[in-house]
Amino acid sequence: MRRPIFGGNWKMHKTVKEAVSTVEDLKKEIGDIEGVEVVVFPPFTALDAVKAVLKETRIGLGAQNMYWEEKGAYTGEISPLMLLETGCRYVILGHSERRQYFGETNLGINKKLKAAFSLGLVPVVCVGERLEERKNGKAEEVVVVQLRECLEKVDLQKAQKLVIAYEPIWAIGTGETATPQQAQEMHRLIRGVLLELLGEELAASIRIQYGGSVKPENIKDLMRQSDIDGALVGGASLQASSFARIIRYKE
Ligand code: PGA
Repeated sequence: MRRPIFGGNWKMHKTVKEAVSTVEDLKKEIGDIEGVEVVVFPPFTALDAVKAVLKETRIGLGAQNMYWEEKGAYTGEISPLMLLETGCRYVILGHSERRQYFGETNLGINKKLKAAFSLGLVPVVCVGERLEERKNGKAEEVVVVQLRECLEKVDLQKAQKLVIAYEPIWAIGTGETATPQQAQEMHRLIRGVLLELLGEELAASIRIQYGGSVKPENIKDLMRQSDIDGALVGGASLQASSFARIIRYKE
């Protein structure tokens, strides 16, 4: 059984004060929840303060990006060791906004993934197609190439920690969600690629989140799909109340 995992990706939102107040509210709403894994991904500047609020809760802490080297002359970058020191256990890698605005490539994401595995961080690797790619019937091909290149030569022993987030770019922040069927089709395809690359046991245990305009109103139908194991939530995670409603989708 795969334990559903819900991530709140806050992107470049929230001052330290706002971040603390949001997780305080979230802690009240779902601090003791069981049966699901919950992670918040605040901006780097708020990690430390958020960590202090999350102490003794079941809510995990993650970062939205990192570099693959442990230290060095890389102005403006943050290393995996620095994330671990701040109390992060998770890291988002290759979010489409990083690919689109900051030129991230599958090759770079692959290096980050290997660094995350070697230091024990749980990587959430994002894949997803653009609208034109879907319209041209290329969605599947694009996602398969992203997966293959991002996962190239990863350490199989460590891959059980891997989380994949399928986020069709046309659904991110647009209010337009993939239908549960569209999402399920892609999730099944992704699981097929994982099977081929990592073997049966890992493919069956790795969680695949859906992301892209997830809201309290659409999460139930998404979670009914057999290969959807949670969600990576942007806009609707900025408010503790709506994120909590997503996490409590079963109630
Ligand atoms: P959204 O963002 O929920 O605001 O569409 C999702 C994401 O980018 O992870």
